[in-house]
Amino acid sequence: MATIGFLSLTVLLILSALSLTDAKCNRKLPCGPSSFTFYLHNTVYNPAVDNQDSFNSIYGVPPNISFPNPFTFGVMNTFEDPLTVGPSNSSSLLGKGQGFYLLNSFTEYTLFHIFTANITEGDFKGTIDIFGQMREVDPVRYLTVVGGTGAFLGARGVAINTLVDIDHTPPAKWTLSFELQLYY
Ligand SMILES: *[C@@H]1O[C@H](CO)[C@@H](O)[C@H](O)[C@H]1NC(C)=O
Ligand SMILES: *[C@@H]1O[C@H](CO)[C@@H](O)[C@H](O)[C@H]1NC(C)=O
Ligand SMILES: *[C@@H]1O[C@H](CO)[C@@H](O)[C@H](O)[C@H]1NC(C)=O
Repeated sequence: MATIGFLSLTVLLILSALSLTDAKCNRKLPCGPSSFTFYLHNTVYNPAVDNQDSFNSIYGVPPNISFPNPFTFGVMNTFEDPLTVGPSNSSSLLGKGQGFYLLNSFTEYTLFHIFTANITEGDFKGTIDIFGQMREVDPVRYLTVVGGTGAFLGARGVAINTLVDIDHTPPAKWTLSFELQLYY
């Protein structure tokens, strides 16, 4: 027992020495852009109009429940959306946003988003990881930037989101803007 105790103590001491060495590491991240804006264009696949050639998101199977679910709680939409420089869907392409949102409220429309913006065009190339809640009723929603790669390596900050445009005629289409404020 004493040997095991001694051994674990030794391991602990080595581990803390290692983490101390780590803490001394003073590597600085290069600074990426402090602000970055993109527009995301989503067209939902709708079986009623069967828009197989013009969708970029699909809803998953609704939960199998026997009571009303007016806000489609528990339903997921997976997307691979074009991202553009400006709000028009014909504006220059920046890359794509891939991820999903989950409808996560029983009492209102809330879209919990997790996605990666893969920026492949323009002055800054890399990925930006964004997550957070969007309440449909809020005109402005604040999501978080939790990381990035490439030009956005180590990025953290806020992604300010607004709905730019929505067309409910099936298949439903909308454009969201994301204004990022980034820290490195
Ligand atoms: C939904 O749940 C009911 C009751 O458990 C079951 O009989 C039915 O097969 C389920 N439907 C699907 C599509 O899984
Ligand atoms: C692009 O926008 C135009 C004009 O608002 C609209 O008519 C068209 O359906 C949109 N295309 C897509 C793929 O959303
Ligand atoms: C971003 O897109 C580029 C070009 O398609 C691809 O090579 C790269 O692997 C993508 N990155 C991620 C994280 O998906």
